[in-house]
Amino acid sequence: MNLSVIGGTGYVGLTAAVCLASKGHLVFCVGRNEEKVSKINMGIPIIYEENLEKLLNDALEKKKLVATTNLKDAVKESDVSFICVGTQSMEDGSIDLGQVEGASVEIGQALGEKEGYHVVTVKSTVVPGTTEDFVVPILERFSGKKAGVDFGVCVNPEFLREGRAIRDFLFPKDTGIVIGALDERSSSFLLEIFKEFDGEIMETSLRCAEMVKYARNAYLAKDISFANEIANICQKIGVDYLEVRKGMEMDVRIGKGRFLDAGVGFGGSCFPKDVQALVSKSVQSEIKPRMLEATLKVNEEQPFMAVRLTKQVLGALRGKKIAVLGMAFKPGTDDMREAPSVRIVNALLSEGAEVAVYDPIALNSARKIFGDKVIYKKRVAEALNKADACVIATEWKEFAEPSIYNNMRGRVIIDGRRVLDPRKLPQGFIYHAIGFPKAVKT
Ligand code: UGA
Repeated sequence: MNLSVIGGTGYVGLTAAVCLASKGHLVFCVGRNEEKVSKINMGIPIIYEENLEKLLNDALEKKKLVATTNLKDAVKESDVSFICVGTQSMEDGSIDLGQVEGASVEIGQALGEKEGYHVVTVKSTVVPGTTEDFVVPILERFSGKKAGVDFGVCVNPEFLREGRAIRDFLFPKDTGIVIGALDERSSSFLLEIFKEFDGEIMETSLRCAEMVKYARNAYLAKDISFANEIANICQKIGVDYLEVRKGMEMDVRIGKGRFLDAGVGFGGSCFPKDVQALVSKSVQSEIKPRMLEATLKVNEEQPFMAVRLTKQVLGALRGKKIAVLGMAFKPGTDDMREAPSVRIVNALLSEGAEVAVYDPIALNSARKIFGDKVIYKKRVAEALNKADACVIATEWKEFAEPSIYNNMRGRVIIDGRRVLDPRKLPQGFIYHAIGFPKAVKT
């Protein structure tokens, strides 16, 4: 099939484009920014994601992917288009549909000029009802055509995790594939595309598919906040959360592999924004979203737990040299959107500490946020050199190596992600962690 991906230079769009091209479809990857478009055509992936560069270059070589700024032609030459544009939060927490609106207007105009049937698929995360009540009317108005007659409409939410997005897209065994469709003809196109992928397919309505995405993310975020709350209680009553978690996981109804890692909280472009958007939608629908609000509240406060522990061990922080290890919201990415590290660094700075930061790949992102307020170190050993304390904010593997902490001055380690085993640390360290009963001297 011929496919177009609108927002194809973004994170979800580019991932979808290269993966769909790898299945033999001809994919038009549509972006607004000429520089990004030409980089993609040169085989330079503009974001970091494992295996993306290889898949992109394979697709270009086989002439299965073309990046373009011309949305109209892309839609006219394709059978299905995927809307993958961003849906950032507005100040009141609801989502900004500006880019979805822009894409829908242009697709509508293209459909007006196009001969034959076409399926418009919303992949961007939008609150339930958006496709039916907002996207479809725009498409109809600007095309002069009728949804369900002249063109089809689907919702196909993405369940990609940053850092393993290509794997998640190509092997959706763990997540399944959700296809919301206006009618059978619309869904038949997506079924044809996704029959190539090994994952259970669920067919449903447009609204339900949109809700599945929010319900999943809210559920996972709620688990993390639950874990953090339990970990905070564990710490106060002097038990180790990791032990408690082990005990919890013995119950098959809880099980292993859940989102129960306690620490400095969740970040990223999805959980915080999606839970907030669902809160707004619930309030609009006159439902008080108590669980969702609590999920966000716990998460907002959790980064400060790491700062509190640092103060507990070090006393006043004014003039103290503190290294913050890990800037990215999770390992495997340079993304710092809503990263707990931002709150931690800002809190340390406001306490008067001198902060050095290190991350294996996110230092450029950090620079954009902190400017000259912190010191940037290209190596973990440099960040730790003569530090009075360090706070681990991202669970990069290299932070689990005890020998990297040897050149610290103060030898205080606050583990915000439980990456270190204090029993493996050399003598003379003070180790404390979120969900850990009390600071221990090694
Ligand atoms: C999340 C979901 O996991 C994906 O299924 C979904 O498709 C995606 O959002 C999206 O909506 O696009 P992502 O944000 O990439 O994916 O990252 P996760 O691996 O889910 O981690 C999110 C945050 O939660 C990170 O800051 C991570 O450190 C934190 N986390 C995760 C915990 O604090 N504890 C855990 O047990 C798990």
